Amino acid sequence: MITPVLLCGGSGTRLWPLSRKSYPKQFAALIGDSTLFQASARRLSGPEFAAPMVLTNADFRFIVTEQLAEVGVDPAAILIEPEGRNTAPAVLAAALWLEKTDPAALMLVAPSDHVVPDGAAFREAVRAGVPAARDGQLVTFGIKPTHAETGYGYLELAGDPGDFAARPLDLKRFVEKPDAGRAEEMLAAGTYLWNAGIFLFSVQAILAAFRDHAPELVAPVTAAVDEGRPDLGFLRLAPGPWAQAGDISIDYAVMERAGNLSVVPFAAGWSDLGGWDAVWRESGPDARGVVATGHATAIDCDDTLLRSEDEALEVVGIGLRNIIAVAMPDAVLVADAARAQDVKQAVAALKAKA
Ligand code: GDD
Ligand code: MG
Repeated sequence: MITPVLLCGGSGTRLWPLSRKSYPKQFAALIGDSTLFQASARRLSGPEFAAPMVLTNADFRFIVTEQLAEVGVDPAAILIEPEGRNTAPAVLAAALWLEKTDPAALMLVAPSDHVVPDGAAFREAVRAGVPAARDGQLVTFGIKPTHAETGYGYLELAGDPGDFAARPLDLKRFVEKPDAGRAEEMLAAGTYLWNAGIFLFSVQAILAAFRDHAPELVAPVTAAVDEGRPDLGFLRLAPGPWAQAGDISIDYAVMERAGNLSVVPFAAGWSDLGGWDAVWRESGPDARGVVATGHATAIDCDDTLLRSEDEALEVVGIGLRNIIAVAMPDAVLVADAARAQDVKQAVAALKAKA
């Protein structure tokens, strides 16, 4: 069986004012009716999957249980991190917990804030990766790159990705978040895929990889799990040892250093919704490129996203071109669509003012 391990920690500042530190984007219904977190949990249910584990922090524990209950998913465990230490300690904690409960399990580590519209195609890609994962490989999922993105990891294939069929290919190298020059080179080379941020491996293989490549994390995270305190159905990791674990992502701690990597190409649509421009694209703009969501109306607009989350606040755009406008009860964002990535500056500016 495959145990889904849902990572639920980030804050997604580029989707301000909808995504907040207290209510990050994965808990919002950004696309369609269910939240990104709920869609992720549902995507990873079916005959091949065991009940999921969720790793999150104390602030979100009740949102997590409430949202899982709404979609009828009963989690195997919810591990509460005393503070965010990034994805490497979180994945290691999940592996150590599973070692006690189901040591032969495969783990499918997935972010909870992505959009993968075709769940069936995704599950097929996961199934394609199972034999490699059973063999001890760390299996990644590769997306065909469309631009020289510097916020992603890149997967170097031994050759051409070929027909992009869902089967595991050997990986030469994993390069996390290159600078712009490197990203341009890798895009031009044609032998790199983007890392989707989703991983499949056995509990034993990932534990061995941590021992080999990030041994300094093993003692503090093991102690945090062993000394963890069960509390209202959650496992609170012990804060003392947890604070000793380094703040590092699994991409840097393990993937860049490991030799036993495979990739399953995934062609059926994926977005990490890294900004309002991506939300606009994934929401299915009409023939004029307009998305009007919630209490919003667009009149004679082009290539524009209008959204109001407040039923007492109607937003109307007239004759707009390339505009993003998002209204919440306590904040309104109006931006040039080409500047969507600069929304994180709004958060920084507001923080500086506070
Ligand atoms: N539980 C927990 N604790 N979850 C966390 C933590 C943490 O401390 N930090 C991050 N996460 C969650 C985020 O909420 C997200 O769902 C996922 O782990 C990935 O973290 P990000 O911070 O969003 O990573 P990234 O986007 O910079 O990079 C990763 O994803 C890219 C694709 O979107 C990498 O894997 C890249 O290689 C990849 O291309
Ligand atoms: Mg991300």
